[in-house]
Amino acid sequence: MDSAVTAAPEQSVPHARPEPQITVLDAGGQYCHLIARRVRDLGVYADVRPSETPAEELRGRKGIIISGGPASVYEAGSPRIDPAILSAGPAIFGICYGLQVMAHALGAPVEKGDKGEYGVARLNVSHPHRLFPEESGAAFQVWMNHRDRLAAPPPDFDVIAASGNCPVAGIAHRDRPLVGVQFHPEVVHTQYGNEILSRFVFEMAGCERDWSPKDRIALIEDDVRQTVGDRSVFFFVSGGVDSTVAYTLCLRALSPERVYGIYVDTGLMREGESDYVRRLFATLGAKAFRVEDASREFLTQLAGLTDAEAKRMAIGEEFVAVQDRVLRTEHFLDANWILGQGTIYPDTIESGGTAKADVIKTHHNRVAGIQQLISENRLVEPLRSFYKDEVREIGRELGIPEEFLTRHPFPGPGLAIRCLCSAEELPLKRVDDGLIMPVHSVGVSGDSRSYRPVLWAFIGMDHERATELVNASAEFNRVVYQAASNAVFSDLRVTRGFIDAERLARLRRADMIVRRFSQAAGFEEQVWQFPVVLIPVGTSERPDSVVLRPIHSVDGMTAQSVEMPRDLLGRICGELLNIPGVCSVFYDLTHKPPGTIEWE
Ligand code: XMP
Repeated sequence: MDSAVTAAPEQSVPHARPEPQITVLDAGGQYCHLIARRVRDLGVYADVRPSETPAEELRGRKGIIISGGPASVYEAGSPRIDPAILSAGPAIFGICYGLQVMAHALGAPVEKGDKGEYGVARLNVSHPHRLFPEESGAAFQVWMNHRDRLAAPPPDFDVIAASGNCPVAGIAHRDRPLVGVQFHPEVVHTQYGNEILSRFVFEMAGCERDWSPKDRIALIEDDVRQTVGDRSVFFFVSGGVDSTVAYTLCLRALSPERVYGIYVDTGLMREGESDYVRRLFATLGAKAFRVEDASREFLTQLAGLTDAEAKRMAIGEEFVAVQDRVLRTEHFLDANWILGQGTIYPDTIESGGTAKADVIKTHHNRVAGIQQLISENRLVEPLRSFYKDEVREIGRELGIPEEFLTRHPFPGPGLAIRCLCSAEELPLKRVDDGLIMPVHSVGVSGDSRSYRPVLWAFIGMDHERATELVNASAEFNRVVYQAASNAVFSDLRVTRGFIDAERLARLRRADMIVRRFSQAAGFEEQVWQFPVVLIPVGTSERPDSVVLRPIHSVDGMTAQSVEMPRDLLGRICGELLNIPGVCSVFYDLTHKPPGTIEWE
C-alpha cells in the first residue's frame, strides 16, 4: 500500500507547517490557544502541548510559554512541568498559573491571596525589564484572573512588577531568559499585551518570522493530493467557515467530481440556511453536493427534553445516526472513499484528550460513526494546523465571498441551544433586585461550567449594575432586563415548553426579524455575534419570551454584552411582540464569564 495514504494524520501534513519555534504548554486554562494564536499572528509558528511534556520532546524550541490554568500548585494532581525545561536552554515565559508552577518548581512559595483579582488591574513596573516596552512607562492596565499568588520570587529572580493585590506580579531571572507574569498579556484588555508577547518571542527567545498561512495554500493542496491518492473525498459540510474552506481546498486539489459534499438539514437552522448553503456551494464550483433533510428525525429525538446537556447529547447522537445511515447507504465506507473534515487546530486539542480545561459544553466533532474511518486513517483534514483567523485568511485567498467568511459564528446544534425548555410551570421568585426566573442557562465560573437560573433585574440597560449583581450572588449566572412586554410583570411565570415545531418556528421568526433589522441598521457588523434566545417565560396565551444577546468578542472565549441603539431596540421589540405566542423581550446584560454566549 501507498504509505502516504496510511500515514497517521499527525504526520500527514509534512509540508504545511514548519517546526514550532515556540511551544505553549497547556496548564489547563482557556487561554493557551489564545497565546499560541497571538504568537502566530506575530508571524512565528507555535504549537500547544500538554504542560508535562518532557524537555526532550521540546528540544529545538526557542521559547516555551507556560499557560494559565484554574488549579493551585499545592493541590494534588495539578498540572506540572518537567523542571528540566527550565535549564534546557530555551527562553521561558510563565503566565498566571504558568508563573506559579515555574516559580514553585524553582523553590518559591505560592500562597492563597486574601481575595481574588479578576478583571482589569493596574500594574506597576518596579524594575525595568526588556519584556515591557518603553512606552508602557511605570504603570499600565492589565487583565488579571487569579487568587493564588507568589509570596516571594525564587532565588536569583528579581520582582519586576506588582499590582494592588499582588506584590509579586512579575519576575525575571537575573542572568537567564526566564520570566513570568501574573497577568494575561494574551487578552485584549491588557495594554501592551501584544508588545509584551512580541518582546518575549523576538528579543528573549530570538525567533524569526516563518509563518503566513496563505503562503501555504499550494503546500496544503499538495498534501491533500498525497493523502487522498486516487480515492475520492466526501465531506459532511456544516455551512460554516471551516468545512467550507476545507472543502474548497479539496476541490482545488482534486477534480470537482471527486469531492462529494453533504449538508445535513437538521431543521434546527436559521431561516433560509439550506438554500443559502446550496447557493454558496454552487458558486464554489461544487459538482457533487446535496442536502440531506433529517429535520423530522432531529425533532423526534429532542421531544420532551429540557436539560442542556441532554439536548446536546440527543443532537450529537442523531448526527451519528444520520451520518451512519448516509455512510452505509451511499457506500462511503468502501475503500475508494476518504473522509474530509474541516477540523481546525483547537478542535484537535479539545477532543484529543490533551486539554485540561473542564468540559464546559460537550464537544462532538469526533462522533462514533466516523471513528472507523479515523482509526483506518482514511481522513483528510487540510486545516488541522490552523486557527480560525488563519482559516479566514486562506478562504479569502481562495476567493470565497467575504460576506460568508465574516458571517457570525453559528453553533452546530443550532437553534436547539437557543430554545430553552421547562417540563413544568413555575412561579418567578421575588428577590431584592428583581425576579429570579427558574430557567437554567449555562455559564462559566472559573474554568468550570455552571447551570443556574436567571435574574430579571429591575434595571435598564445598565451593564455595570448587572455585573455587580451577578458577581454578588451564586444563585444565578445571568442578569437580564425587560426591554418590552405584552403583559404586566406579575402575570409572568415559567411555562411548560419543549423543543417542538411551533416553538422552533417562533424562534426562527424572532431570529429573522432581529437579523433583518440589525443588518439594515448596520448593527450586525458591529457585533461579533447576536444570539436570539427563546425562553419559556410568559402567560398562557403568550407562553414564550425572546432574549436578545448581542456581544463583542475576539474569539468567543470571553465576551462582553453590548449596548444597542435605543431606536433599533424599540423597532425590534415592536416587531417581536407581534409574533403570536411572544410575551416579552429581555436583554441579556451578562458578560462571559460568568455567562456563556449561548444559553443552552
Ligand atoms: P459559549 O456559549 O460557550 O460559546 O460562550 C462560545 C462560542 O462557541 C459557539 N458554540 C458552538 N459552536 N458547535 C459550534 O460549532 C457548538 O456546539 C457550539 N456551542 C457553542 C457559540 O455560538 C459561541 O460563538
